[in-house]
Amino acid sequence: MKIMAKLILLVGPLKGILALAVLLGALGALAAAAIPVLGAAALLTAAGIGATPAPPEWTPTVFVGLAFLAGLSRGVFRYGEQTANHYIAFRLLALIREKLFAALRRLCPAKLEGKEKGDLIAVLTSDIELLEVFYAHTLSPAAIALIMAAAVAGLVWICHPLFALIALTAHIALGAALPAVASRFAREGQRRLREENGRFAAFYLDSLRGLPELLQYGGAEARKREMGRRTDMADAARRRLNRLESVTGALAGLLVTAFTLLALVAGCLLYGQGRIAAAAVLPVVLIFSSFGPALALTALGSSLPGVLAAGRRVLAILEEEPETPEVTNGESPDFSGAESRNLSFSYGGEEVLRDISISLEKGVITGITGRSGSGKSTFLKLLMRFWQPPANTVFISGAEIDHINTGRLRELESFMTQETYLFHSTIGENILIGRPGASRADMIAAAKKAALHDFVLSLPEGYDTPVGEMGCTLSSGERQRVGLARAFLHDAPLLLLDEPTSNLDSLNEGVILKALREEKSGRAVALVSHRPSTMGVADTVYLLGNG
Ligand SMILES: Nc1ncnc2c1ncn2[C@@H]1O[C@H](COP(=O)(O)OP(=O)(O)O)[C@@H](O)[C@H]1O
Ligand SMILES: [Mg+2]
Repeated sequence: MKIMAKLILLVGPLKGILALAVLLGALGALAAAAIPVLGAAALLTAAGIGATPAPPEWTPTVFVGLAFLAGLSRGVFRYGEQTANHYIAFRLLALIREKLFAALRRLCPAKLEGKEKGDLIAVLTSDIELLEVFYAHTLSPAAIALIMAAAVAGLVWICHPLFALIALTAHIALGAALPAVASRFAREGQRRLREENGRFAAFYLDSLRGLPELLQYGGAEARKREMGRRTDMADAARRRLNRLESVTGALAGLLVTAFTLLALVAGCLLYGQGRIAAAAVLPVVLIFSSFGPALALTALGSSLPGVLAAGRRVLAILEEEPETPEVTNGESPDFSGAESRNLSFSYGGEEVLRDISISLEKGVITGITGRSGSGKSTFLKLLMRFWQPPANTVFISGAEIDHINTGRLRELESFMTQETYLFHSTIGENILIGRPGASRADMIAAAKKAALHDFVLSLPEGYDTPVGEMGCTLSSGERQRVGLARAFLHDAPLLLLDEPTSNLDSLNEGVILKALREEKSGRAVALVSHRPSTMGVADTVYLLGNG
């Protein structure tokens, strides 16, 4: 209920269109139910039961008119309802995607580290799509079913309260009780299905990425068999849900028949006792023909748990608190150096850094070296405030890092991470990420410092050469130099370089170290590397031991 309420709140600006969808849907459902009722009324009139008999030639006209009117209104109303519902659904999905992106911008980069990445992608793709079911096929159908139940109960009440009781019971059974029971039984199955599907997708992707290894070492056949086994497991989960859907459908059919019979028996008894007129066949027909909207809800029962679980995951991201909240009302100092004082840090479990005091001064290259896993990258990330350092441990320009506006912090710092991500665009645009809007001359200067320029000139279209998806057409050394060019182009007074030369030959390393030496005046450089040749350029070197 809480999740549904929150999802409904997101409708906000589209309330009017939702109301329109409900109105059109209710009118359409009522029109559909009216066809048999009016037809029966015409028959009664023709047969002279109740009112005065009509002339025989009147009957065909009535039927043609009825069919035309009802069909038209039903068609037009239904079309309008569906259009409005899908408009709402897809507008909302677009809106939620935007909100999710904004939320992730707050939550990252901490959120994208670690193991949650695969799950996150599932939320961003399949979960959002599932919400379409809620907005286009659950929300207004529920309102329409409610209106229909009330309208039908009210109309048949005019004839006799017993009919109203039967109608209400039938609508509650079909539109509320049966879907609630079905959704309870489907919960576990939906969870299993998503889990199996997720696992299968991950396995498939893993196999695809590792295909060269599988071919080389002859593992493809076994992998294929495993894939078949996992397909079967996902299928088993799906089959169970299908069975549940069939059973629910059959039960719904039984209930419709039972309640129609009940209304018929009640009508006969009341007529026999002389309590109602012969025209009382009309309420029975109305009850019989009013089940459409309730049946639409019955069919939703087994998919609802999956939809709500998707909604919960989407909402969880929207509501998640970022590791480091954005600072906007802090200081925006000029750069005069950075410092850590007795900095200790852990990612929740074991301590990664203990009592680190390092000062990064202008005009100085500070080298940080140490074995893999000793916390070098973590130290740089804390200087970026990707993670929250303890109070009074990290300072920029003498101010505690938490008190500096996040926008200013990004201006003051250039961070080259260990893995450079390349966007699916040209190599020039990839460098320009470092400073959007920079001139071409500045971009080329940065590329030269990063020992990238000659390589780019050797490409067929120079800086306009596209790099493939995930930059897979570039070698890791070339990719690294693009990352370095970005950092140089950003031109910040605090330069943080995480293993900038790990994939480079000594020739390119030399070019870069020379550039660094030239760049260091007026800026502070933190240079993380385990290469002694790279450490040679540093003025001071810290060795990080076990944290
Ligand atoms: N996001 C994270 N969550 C939990 N542990 C992490 C995370 N990032 C790094 N670690 C752990 O912190 C330790 C230091 O990592 P890192 O700073 O990357 O070391 P280095 O850069 O010196 O190789 C390692 O043991 C690593 O497994
Ligand atoms: Mg590292």
